[in-house]
Amino acid sequence: MIKVENAKDRSVVENVIQKKQEHVFRWWDRLSESSRNKLLDQLNSIDFALLKELQKRCTGAEKKEEIRRILESAEIIPIPQTADQRKAAEAAERVGDEWIRNGKVAAFLVAGGQGTRLGFDGPKGLFPIGPVTGKTLFQMHAEKILAASQQYGVTIPWYIMTSETNDAETKRFFRQNRFFGLGEQNVFFLQQRMVPALDENGKLILDRKDHIFCNPNGHGGSLLTLLESGAIDDMHRRGVEVIFYFQVDNVLVKILDPVFIGYHVQAGAEMSSKTVQKRNPEEKLGVFGRIGGKLKVIEYSDLSEKDMKARNPDGSLKYGAGNLAIHLINPSFVESEVQGVLKLPYHVAHKKIPYLDETGNLVSPEKPNGYKFEMFVFDALSDTTRSVIMEVVRTEEFSPVKNKRGVDSPETARRDLTRFFGRWLESAGLSVPRSEREDVVGRIEISPLFARNQEEFLKKRPPDSRFTGSLYLGPEEKLDA
Ligand code: UD1
Repeated sequence: MIKVENAKDRSVVENVIQKKQEHVFRWWDRLSESSRNKLLDQLNSIDFALLKELQKRCTGAEKKEEIRRILESAEIIPIPQTADQRKAAEAAERVGDEWIRNGKVAAFLVAGGQGTRLGFDGPKGLFPIGPVTGKTLFQMHAEKILAASQQYGVTIPWYIMTSETNDAETKRFFRQNRFFGLGEQNVFFLQQRMVPALDENGKLILDRKDHIFCNPNGHGGSLLTLLESGAIDDMHRRGVEVIFYFQVDNVLVKILDPVFIGYHVQAGAEMSSKTVQKRNPEEKLGVFGRIGGKLKVIEYSDLSEKDMKARNPDGSLKYGAGNLAIHLINPSFVESEVQGVLKLPYHVAHKKIPYLDETGNLVSPEKPNGYKFEMFVFDALSDTTRSVIMEVVRTEEFSPVKNKRGVDSPETARRDLTRFFGRWLESAGLSVPRSEREDVVGRIEISPLFARNQEEFLKKRPPDSRFTGSLYLGPEEKLDA
């Protein structure tokens, strides 16, 4: 029998028992007063109605989501090749420039994930990635926003989503670095909600005697958090009409790309996306498509083998439009998505979840033993009436840090950054040694505070810059090579 003092706690306990989750009180007798309160608080924060839905999703018919209906390709704005396409892109750029200059665009970073694949202990944004300086992912993004603010002569607010697992450390890092010159009042942290995982019998999992295992509720949860945290109100106050959404892991992300913003605005779109062609059918990118007329991203794990390998008559992949997880989202669209509740579906993943055994020891299982649930932001695309998908050049805009080694690792990200800046140097007539595989021999890093793009670089390049194997150009126009 669980004895508690007050009526509120009693109702929490009764609810837990009624929902057949009383095993969470397994260690109650041995818990201190504060641990008991901690557990009760956590139980009180759990949405049991949602839990019931989640239980259904991991058992029986709804266990695996499958794309059973006919998938069609989505329409895409191609990389400009003809004169007309170039003219259209230039017109879009003018619109985007104007919107940024008028303070209508904010940056929004989702950084609440756990980065388990990278095996980095800490917020992924703290990972050192600058090829020469070792600057962190956070600093690289911060400098892009600061440089854009300076160029456009406007304050660009930056909203950063964290989660319980990394919020304190992320904030500490920004404070220590004085918000990278952006001004504390312009950097807004919002913490996403957590959602409990379930074991294979639909039960909550204890990972400490006074704690239930929970994970961040997925980047889809960002829509709810933007509203709950007051970020959307803050945007209204500042006159923000478009949110530039991006992930923490992409070192080449072109934050506040005016061409993309221009296309989005011209189309009167509510939520838009960038895409690159997948390298091969197996590449782990979600792909854009339409199902029953509705725009979707189909995760790589949900795409059937047949659709994954399907080709167009010209040999290109039929469903090859990879999702870069770069979006433009209107604050008004966020509000329409979250009316009381957020309607996005939860996706289920069968995972290895640490748990307490009968003796109270923490076990890290070797095989998946339970289910984690997450919402994905791109599911909101199905609710748009107008949406733009713009194709971009991969080597200019996409190189994510996801794995410890191999593809999409720190090594490939540093290589891609160096190649990217290598092209700037070459366009200025400098010679850059390359290996047989076209990799730059050496390391190059150019801060956006030195030059935001190739055009600016060509204007600013100091006359004595040379490449001797290592080159860094920073805000002070200093050569550290
Ligand atoms: C993601 C996309 C995939 C896309 C690819 C591009 C999903 C399910 N898939 O894959 O379609 O092609 O990126 O790189 O997202 N995050 C949170 N809170 C969470 C979970 C994640 O903020 O609860 C953030 C992470 O910090 C990260 C981003 O979302 O910035 C991506 O999460 P991750 O789990 O790494 O997605 P991927 O599987 O890499």
